[in-house]
Amino acid sequence: MTADVHEDAQDGDGPVAVVTGASEGIGLAVARRLARDGYRVAMVARPSPKLDAAAAQVGPAAFPVGCDVTRSAETERAMAAVMRATDDQWVSAFQVKVFGALRMMRAAWPHLVAARGSVVNIGGIGARTPRDAFAMTGPLSAALLAFTKVFADRGITDGVRVNAVNPGAVLTPRTVAMLTARAEADGCTLDETVAGMVRRDHVTRLGTPEDVAGVVAFLLSPDGEWLQGAVIDVDGGRTKGL
Ligand SMILES: NC(=O)c1ccc[n+]([C@@H]2O[C@H](COP(=O)([O-])OP(=O)(O)OC[C@H]3O[C@@H](n4cnc5c(N)ncnc54)[C@H](OP(=O)(O)O)[C@@H]3O)[C@@H](O)[C@H]2O)c1
Repeated sequence: MTADVHEDAQDGDGPVAVVTGASEGIGLAVARRLARDGYRVAMVARPSPKLDAAAAQVGPAAFPVGCDVTRSAETERAMAAVMRATDDQWVSAFQVKVFGALRMMRAAWPHLVAARGSVVNIGGIGARTPRDAFAMTGPLSAALLAFTKVFADRGITDGVRVNAVNPGAVLTPRTVAMLTARAEADGCTLDETVAGMVRRDHVTRLGTPEDVAGVVAFLLSPDGEWLQGAVIDVDGGRTKGL
């Protein structure tokens, strides 16, 4: 059985596929293929070192779910474990992106006040245009932008500037790995996949890390001195709304 239980693939927000019979043979091949296509793969078979080894071999997108499908109670427990793993992914993403930034700003604040310093948070275009493809990264970035505004307001009193940038698709190692897997799955080259994305998203091109770094430097510089709580889209024209 292969079941897609969560349809929100982009930027690592991959849908979850539940593959039974996954410790060898066809199930293992299906698991391998879906992991390459960007799914998080719950690999189901009876608990064994063979299942664990198969999941390890498929890679970080896969996780083993030991379950004897002839036992009804075990199948219920297995699906609960799959859904818990999905929840854990959301919690962990919020921990890093939202609470991570919040903790860092809180810890740095006294020093920022003393130095009349400046903060730039990195959101993401899904914050302004949440949609299915940004099911996780959109709300994460929106929460971070809300905190940016909160700290920016506080910064008016404390003498700290706080702003944010929203990158579109940037060719970082994570994005390149994702696009390479997509290209392999589609049987085309990385350049063709990138060109297709540029056409589909109607953007000037995909970004480089340096494109984002330049805008961060501007926000920190004296030229950006009157910006407070600003959110700048750095996305080659991807965000079409005002
Ligand atoms: N790339 C894009 O297309 C894109 C688009 C929109 C927004 N963004 C945003 O831009 C930011 C950077 O994205 P990215 O693509 O360059 O890479 P990323 O995979 O999101 O982030 C990689 C960086 O985060 C560090 N990191 C991860 N977990 C950490 C933790 N718990 N504590 C400390 N550091 C941690 C990693 O260091 P270690 O693992 O070595 O600790 C590494 O330096 C992210 O906030 C992302 O959401 C990216």
